[in-house]
Amino acid sequence: MKRLGVNIDHIATVRNARGEAHPSPFLAAKFARKFGADSITIHLREDRRHIKDIDAKKICSIKNLLVNLEISTNSNIVKIASKINPNFICLVPENRKEITTEGGLDLKRNKKKIEKILKIFKKKKVRTSLFINPSLKDIKISKTLGVDCVEIHTGKLANLVKSHKNYNDELEKIKKCSFEANKLGIEVHAGHGLDYKTTKILTRVKEIQEFNIGHFLIGESIFFGLSKVIKNFKKIIKR
Ligand code: PXP
Repeated sequence: MKRLGVNIDHIATVRNARGEAHPSPFLAAKFARKFGADSITIHLREDRRHIKDIDAKKICSIKNLLVNLEISTNSNIVKIASKINPNFICLVPENRKEITTEGGLDLKRNKKKIEKILKIFKKKKVRTSLFINPSLKDIKISKTLGVDCVEIHTGKLANLVKSHKNYNDELEKIKKCSFEANKLGIEVHAGHGLDYKTTKILTRVKEIQEFNIGHFLIGESIFFGLSKVIKNFKKIIKR
């Protein structure tokens, strides 16, 4: 059964616009679970532009809630994350000037660093994941790193679909990588830029077990409510 991870970073974006307490990411996490999210994703960015340390700490302390914490390989962030004790950790690249996560990790370049970080979380029995581009080379490196899951960056596919361009080659890449990862015993996740249409397209990839969806899901909830939008996504991924 495919799972839905709801990324609530942009609840914090709206909250931070006023520097006050509303809307609360802590409450959003609880409501998302109530409405059917299988897990909650939060990204503790180095610049803390949405989720703050206190949010991450409070959300990770909610009982019976599976929390996926996305972090960069920055040593200070890794230290904080290891103290917060999330259920899942996903390592992502971060560049100073980006608006959102652009591309997957450079595994070849950061192999040693990543290996060290994965060890810290594996010791704590935290499920580990790497955010990677749909590249067979990166799947092979992920295997050597001993990670539990990979999250395949779907941003390029999403952009092609949204601009009505041919996305078959990109989908084929995602399919091949998912097949290979699954064969190697790595759980496959997908995320970035997903809306109803792109999520539906990706349900054709049977190896994808988890979708992590944020910006569109939260944006759409402004019009139709979090409950309705989560239910819509769950219906799509169940097919
Ligand atoms: N997965 C990862 C690893 C991400 O970094 C992000 C963006 O923070 C997402 C999924 C969610 O992407 P979006 O907000 O475009 O749905």
